[in-house]
Amino acid sequence: MCGIVGYIGARKVQDVVLEGLRKLEYRGYDSAGIATLDHKTIRISKSLGRMANLEDKLVTEPATGTIGIGHTRWATHGRPSDENAHPHQDCSGRFAIVHNGIVENYLTLRDELTAKGHQFESETDTEVVAHLIEDLYNGDLFSTMVNVAKHIRGAYALVVLSKDHPDMLIALRKSSPLIIGLGEHENFVASDIPAILEYTRDVYVLDDGEMAVVRQNGVECFSLEGTPVHKDVYQVTWDAVSAERGGYPHFMLKEIHEQPKAIRDTLTGRLSEDGRRVVLSELTWSKSYTKAVDRIQIVACGTSWHAGLVGKAVIEKLARIPVEVEIGSEYRYRDPIQTENTLVIVISQSGETADTLAGLREAKARGRRVLAITNVVGSSVAREADDVIITWAGPEIAVASTKAYTTQLIALYLLAAYFAQERETQEPDKLKEIISALGNLPQVAEQVLDTAPQIEEFAQTYKGAADTFFIGRSLDYSVAMEGALKLKEISYIHAEAYAAGELKHGTLALITEGVPVIALATQPELYEKTVSNIKEVKARDAFVLGMAWVGDEELEKSVDEVIYLPATLPLLAPIAAVIPLQLLAYYAAVARGNDVDKPRNLAKSVTVE
Ligand code: F6R
Repeated sequence: MCGIVGYIGARKVQDVVLEGLRKLEYRGYDSAGIATLDHKTIRISKSLGRMANLEDKLVTEPATGTIGIGHTRWATHGRPSDENAHPHQDCSGRFAIVHNGIVENYLTLRDELTAKGHQFESETDTEVVAHLIEDLYNGDLFSTMVNVAKHIRGAYALVVLSKDHPDMLIALRKSSPLIIGLGEHENFVASDIPAILEYTRDVYVLDDGEMAVVRQNGVECFSLEGTPVHKDVYQVTWDAVSAERGGYPHFMLKEIHEQPKAIRDTLTGRLSEDGRRVVLSELTWSKSYTKAVDRIQIVACGTSWHAGLVGKAVIEKLARIPVEVEIGSEYRYRDPIQTENTLVIVISQSGETADTLAGLREAKARGRRVLAITNVVGSSVAREADDVIITWAGPEIAVASTKAYTTQLIALYLLAAYFAQERETQEPDKLKEIISALGNLPQVAEQVLDTAPQIEEFAQTYKGAADTFFIGRSLDYSVAMEGALKLKEISYIHAEAYAAGELKHGTLALITEGVPVIALATQPELYEKTVSNIKEVKARDAFVLGMAWVGDEELEKSVDEVIYLPATLPLLAPIAAVIPLQLLAYYAAVARGNDVDKPRNLAKSVTVE
């Protein structure tokens, strides 16, 4: 949700900022802009659309200097346009700012500042902050910014450049992520680590309610009230190459193919040496708490919410603990019913999703213990939760989530098996069988990737479809929901997922000749029922692509084409079944000529409500 880069040092600022923004384009790409300070003048260049437009502009009018800020926008307040693109300035042109988040009281502030004679050029909430700085400026930028923070409500990551202070950038963080990259005689500010990885692996992760004064030769951190705070340096362990495309045409395809490794990395250290017990040494709660948990609420959004649906089924089945799965944006507004021993699990790839974070805070405010499943060490949810299970998927850059989902599933399987093991809710042999099958999932994922050519061909044939339906029962239904979301978000083909038995209650009316139906039939106890539902759509002349275990010769008789999945336990089917659906979305989007990694209207990390 908007990407920010700031630089102060000896390099050409334009190069550093543009390179950083390119790495952050996944956060938004409605417009981009840069402000640099050179010879006491702030020069701004900004452009509607992708980064390439800004780069074109900079060929004829380069942004000179060695200090500056840049921004890539995902529009919230004000449509995408040149005027609404960041950086924004005050009336005097003394300050330039970039912002990620929403200033909630911007209308009141705008009225007050307009009454004082300030003139606005954009429709954004951000511009208000530039004028507010001008209004409160007392010659000392630091104390002015402390004062500014007192006046603005909402979420912000903010970086300020001032022509009166060519030796510093000031960065503020409240609810929107911001990191400071620490270099030698140079320092960086960014919304996310990939933007600065080329230059340094040492970072300060600003906490909520903190600010930093960033100079060429040092960084000082403070609370937003201006009190100094000590920060530990966090060392990034992954390298710039893992955040690059590595020969794949798109990040999404690379990330789909990284799933065997991501699954293996997420399992590593969490299974006993003989592969028959789960070891979750990161959980800090007591043995008695493991037994006392009497209810679980999972809170997440989008794909992570879909992972939660699988988590519910698996935890209930193995550990016999009732689980509810809640959408982040709904949870905190519905006064959830909890017991003293309700465990709240938040799932978030980025660890920064505003709705999920709000759910976490709601649960904490109610005195609940919160476990976070996240892919980003040091993210907000990781820092605020009581316990954390990190999914070791590595950086996920494509907007459409793939490897994060499968590793979230791994974390949930491990947790379900852990509860079952400690609470003794399953036959020991049965549980051991499940745990050792978990250990084989990297190989299963590897084999499923072999379905790619078949899926690519199918996607070519069906790229013109207006509607697609995904059906399945039980776990297959949860995976169907994820398949439909993937297809919608990157191919823009309308897609819906249905519990296979539910179609006949209305949606069957939409099934006509040639409509593609993707039917998942991986759950043996529901197999016959699912086949009956497949026959219902076949009878209306749908084109059915079935998905079944290798060796199933029955399904072929009822569908037009089958994708065969390599054998694993039916309980683990979601890991195998989702990969062909990710590939389907990918190849359909490519066939339609879409921008796969950056689908329209979306952004990777949604840090606004
Ligand atoms: C879809 C997708 C989104 C995210 C959702 C939550 O492919 O990526 O639906 O899953 O925005 O994001 P995180 O997991 O970062 O909280």
